[in-house]
Amino acid sequence: MVEHIRRSGVNKVIKKRKCKGKIRVQLKKNVEVVSLTLQKVFSSCQEVFKGPGTVPCPGDVQKLQHILDNMKPEDVGLNSDLRFFNIKSEVEGTPRVASATIDKCANFELSIFFLPANAVIPLHNHPEMTVFSKLLLGTMHIKAYDWVEPKPLDSNRSTSPSKCRLAKLTSNRTFTAPSDASVLYPTSGGNIHEFRAITPCAVLDVIGPPYSKDDGRDCSYYKDTPVKEEDGSCNYGWLEEIEIPKESEMDAIEYMGPKIIKSFT
Ligand SMILES: [Fe+2]
Repeated sequence: MVEHIRRSGVNKVIKKRKCKGKIRVQLKKNVEVVSLTLQKVFSSCQEVFKGPGTVPCPGDVQKLQHILDNMKPEDVGLNSDLRFFNIKSEVEGTPRVASATIDKCANFELSIFFLPANAVIPLHNHPEMTVFSKLLLGTMHIKAYDWVEPKPLDSNRSTSPSKCRLAKLTSNRTFTAPSDASVLYPTSGGNIHEFRAITPCAVLDVIGPPYSKDDGRDCSYYKDTPVKEEDGSCNYGWLEEIEIPKESEMDAIEYMGPKIIKSFT
């Protein structure tokens, strides 16, 4: 259940009303909405993510995953009537993805990605990161790979194209909100993934640690060529690193949802 706390802020004059010949000033309190669930996510992140070079322990992963499983769009100020989902650009040309950062520190980052229908976040990796993804609104196709380790010297599956590396397909399916949170790790769980919006979507990413070019955690993009098995199935793909694709460009927008209170207890 989503719970909200209304915190009183500064009193503000909103209108004057005549009352039996007198003018009465009516005050309205500024109201700040806080999501207890979002607060729990934040507090859990502070415990779970211990900094670069670390991976959360299974118990911590389970705890944060459980909080995210119960998260609702309202916890980050969203509903399906958002103007974002009705904008004209949705049906003209390549739809652009928008992103809003809720909070970011050295150990983790909370961000929401808004994808109009048919928008794509191209195949990209998360070096040395653990990432929780929670689809809040919409229907999205997610394709994900993990590198095959160690690199095979030879493969009967097909001839390796030059500059390509073999990866195992870990997910290739469609998700519809509300769905449980998924989690990927530095070398498992589908560290390299692609989001493709079937309908307008909003997805919350909890990333730890955040991308950092200076610390060797830059984002790389890939083009995949599925490998067809003898029985017709596709469980592997050749991944070739590519230049930053145009579809990866995003519009940064301001987060307008419930605020996180750092001193909240
Ligand atoms: Fe990602």
